[in-house]
Amino acid sequence: MHLVWHSYKYFPYERDLAEREVAALLCPSSVREAKAGLKVDDACEDLAARRLTYFSATINGQGSRPTTQSKLEEAARNGKNRQATRYSVHGLHEYKGKFNPQVVRALLNIFGVQEGQHVLDPFCGSGTTLVECAHLGAVGFGTDINPLAVHMANAKLLALRTPASQFERVFGELSELSLKALSSVETHPGNDRYAYLDSWFESSILSTIECARKEIERIAGALAPVFLTIASDLLREYSQQDPKDLRIRRRKSTLPEEPFWSAFLGAAHTFVERLKAAQTVVGTCGHHCDAAKQDVAHLSIERGGRLFDAAITSPPYAMALPYIDTQRLSLVWLGLLSPARILEKESELIGSREMRGNSKRELPLQLQANAADLPGEEASVCLELLQTLGPDDGFRRKAVPALLYRYFSAMKRSFGSVRQVMKPGARYGLIVGHNHTTIGGNRRDIDTPSHLANLAQAEGWRIDELIPLQTYRRYGYHVSNAVAAETLVVLRAA
Ligand SMILES: C[S@@+](CC[C@H](N)C(=O)[O-])C[C@H]1O[C@@H](n2cnc3c(N)ncnc32)[C@H](O)[C@@H]1O
Repeated sequence: MHLVWHSYKYFPYERDLAEREVAALLCPSSVREAKAGLKVDDACEDLAARRLTYFSATINGQGSRPTTQSKLEEAARNGKNRQATRYSVHGLHEYKGKFNPQVVRALLNIFGVQEGQHVLDPFCGSGTTLVECAHLGAVGFGTDINPLAVHMANAKLLALRTPASQFERVFGELSELSLKALSSVETHPGNDRYAYLDSWFESSILSTIECARKEIERIAGALAPVFLTIASDLLREYSQQDPKDLRIRRRKSTLPEEPFWSAFLGAAHTFVERLKAAQTVVGTCGHHCDAAKQDVAHLSIERGGRLFDAAITSPPYAMALPYIDTQRLSLVWLGLLSPARILEKESELIGSREMRGNSKRELPLQLQANAADLPGEEASVCLELLQTLGPDDGFRRKAVPALLYRYFSAMKRSFGSVRQVMKPGARYGLIVGHNHTTIGGNRRDIDTPSHLANLAQAEGWRIDELIPLQTYRRYGYHVSNAVAAETLVVLRAA
């Protein structure tokens, strides 16, 4: 059987994952390079081969058949030779640190996840793992403490399990609303949600988005979370915040010329079309997938009484992106968080840079005493950084050793928590980035993937493999410039 590559340019790691998928799904007795693809022996099962991520078609005696992945990507391809990453419901809303969905699908294949099996993503973010589980008929469950992440993930799952025709009907009704009707809305002085939004939106735009929200809720009913999420994705673009800055700064650029409602209808139309295309390939799916607003530290086997067959995640970074801060407008507009709770929520996230209350004073003491009982290597990296601090290091850098210690401690706890809900022998794949910091005038690289693997080991996991994911600028650069920007850490529940 001939397995044909997609027409896009591959990163080195994608070739590597492709070969691993072939080995796991097809168990071929031989694999060799062939024209624009790989050749495996004819005894390999065509049905299993059509699950492959990194191949566009299978060719055997009965002819050529496209893989499910190539059909899914087809409807969302932006240029013939580009890998589509917003196929199906993946493009619903931006989320910083979002997974590449192809990597997740490949991992599900490599881990041999079967229809009906249970898969956990303990840091599920916008739900990429859960969506890929739904496409394959697996039962995905995700947790995250960012309410916007959970809202997005569940909106994607709601879309997947609802026939696209229902979204088309709602879209039709929404498109008939006149823009004029959308700008008359009563204000809510004294309401802190409204006061907050009022400080970030021009009054005419605020009227429009508030009215849009009411109309979407009225017309879309149970499907409103999906349409509200589409609208939420446009908010920063139409606000007085600089949409290009992760931090909250006033914008200098002008507002878009296209009216908000027309941009919303355009985005909603694209979404419904992609959903329709995905459902012609995989049908409605994901009926048992779910995301919960929950701290990873509180996972328990009570949920359904089932242990998980596999786990896949991209954990937060040490000194992570300010997720909550960047998404303030959406969180407040959707009514998911009150403006007064933004900083508090940010500080609860693993990897946050926020230190509240006594923690500024207590964290360095905990580090020195290794209160969280970190393995020797991780405890000494933090201690060494603390001792290297120089007089020129400002308050941000001075905080780095304590923040790293808090990050390692929380990640260690998370490994213990995930471990107790996994079946013995189950695999846990984590895509982890590398970090660096400058302290005492010197750049220090922090090999986060190896540190996380060590922390996991201390919590009852076996380290299966650390696979560097080599990338380069996909378009315009040469393979020889490849660097391992991230590492896939594969653990096994011992
Ligand atoms: C790199 S992102 C995951 C992105 C995700 N893979 C996706 O495709 O959207 C890491 C996530 O960890 C979440 N997180 C941080 N601390 C957490 C905690 N204590 N419990 C659960 N989730 C947490 C953050 O809110 C963030 O969404």
